[in-house]
Amino acid sequence: SDGFQNMEEYSGVYQLNCLAKGASPGFKVAILGAAGGIGQPLAMLMKMNPLVSVLHLYDVVNTPGVTADISHMDTGAVVRGFLGQQQLEDALTGMDLVIIPAGVPRKPGMTRDDLFNINAGIVRTLCEGIAKCCPNAIVNIISNPVNSTVPIAAEVFKKAGTYNPKCILGVTMLDVVRANTFVAEVLSLDPREIDTPVVGGHAGVTILPLLSQIKPPCSFTQQEIEYLTNRIQNGGTEVVEAKAGSGSATLSMAYAAVKFADACLRGLRGDANIIQCAYVASEVTELPFFASKVRLGRAGVEEIYPLGPLNEYERAGLEKAKKELAGSIQKGVSFVRK
Ligand code: NAD
Ligand code: LMR
Repeated sequence: SDGFQNMEEYSGVYQLNCLAKGASPGFKVAILGAAGGIGQPLAMLMKMNPLVSVLHLYDVVNTPGVTADISHMDTGAVVRGFLGQQQLEDALTGMDLVIIPAGVPRKPGMTRDDLFNINAGIVRTLCEGIAKCCPNAIVNIISNPVNSTVPIAAEVFKKAGTYNPKCILGVTMLDVVRANTFVAEVLSLDPREIDTPVVGGHAGVTILPLLSQIKPPCSFTQQEIEYLTNRIQNGGTEVVEAKAGSGSATLSMAYAAVKFADACLRGLRGDANIIQCAYVASEVTELPFFASKVRLGRAGVEEIYPLGPLNEYERAGLEKAKKELAGSIQKGVSFVRK
C-alpha cells in the first residue's frame, strides 16, 4: 500500500538521522513471521536490544501495521517492514542474524510433528531465501517441529552449496527457561540464579533436562525428579491446553528467543564464554543433530560440549530421546531430498 511505501521512506530518513548523530553500528537482524504471536513481542524486544542497528520485519500478512507501531519506539534500531514473498529477498539482504518464528502453532490434542506438513514447506522456502541473500547469517529456527525443521534447513543450505553447520541453530531456550522456573519453584530459589542444561531436542521425551548438572548443584528426591522432568517435557502442552485452541506459547517464547538471539549477537561481537543450549549439527551422540550446551562466537557455534556425566534416570531418558529424534531428523532430511 501507499502508506507502507511512505513508511519505508520514513524509516530511511530516520536511519540517515541516526547515522548523522553517530549512533553506534550494531547488527542487522531479520524476523521472518514477525506479525505472528511470537513475532510481534519478539520484534518489540529486539527493537529494545542495543546490539541491533537494523531490524527487518517480514511476514506474509500484517507487517505494515506491526512495523509502523514498533518503529515509533525511541530506541536505536531502524525498523523496516516487508510484506509477502516478493519482498523476502529485500528483507534478507545484508542480515547478520535471521530469526524464524514463521508457521502454524499447535492446538490441543496435536503433537509438534502434526505441524510438519505445513511448516516444513515454509521453513524450506525461507531458508532458500537466506541461502541466496545472506548465506553467512546466523539462523535461529523457532518454527516447529524444531527436531525436523533444523535438518530441513541444513539440507536446503547443502543443496544451495552454502551449508555452514556453525550457523544453524534450533532454539530450545524455552525448555531451559521453563526448567529454571520450575526448579526454582520446587526449591524456593530465585530462577535467575539457576542454570539447568536441557539437551536432546524440542518435543516430548526428546526434551531431556539434566537435573544432576544444575548450577549451582541442587539435590532432589526421585519424586521431584520425575515431577520436574515431566513438567519440563510437557511445558509446551501445558500452555497449548490453557490457551484452548488459540495457539501455543508466544510471550515466554519471545522472551526466550530474545535471550538466545542476544547471546548469538554477543558471540558475533566477540564476547567470551557465551554458552547456551541449542539444537545443532553435532557429534555429541551418533545422531547428526542434537541439543546440548554450545559456545557462541564470531563464527556462530564455535564449540559443542559433551553431555557430561549422566545418572541412571538421565541415561534411560537419553535412549528414549535418541529413538524419537532419529525419526524426526530422517523425516526432515527426506522432505528436502525427495
Ligand atoms: P502464529 O500463527 O501466531 O504466527 C505465525 C506467523 O507466521 C503468522 O504471522 C503467519 O502469517 C506467519 N507465516 C506463515 N507462513 C509464512 C511464510 N511463508 N513466511 C513468513 N511468515 C509466515 O504462530 P506462533 O504462535 O507465533 O508460532 C510460530 C511457530 O513457532 C509455530 O510453529 C510454533 O509451534 C513454534 N513455536 C516454537 C517454540 C520453540 O520453543 N521453538 C515455542 C513456541 C512456538
Ligand atoms: C513450546 O514448547 O511451547 C512450543 O514448542 C510450542 C508447542 O507447540 O508446544
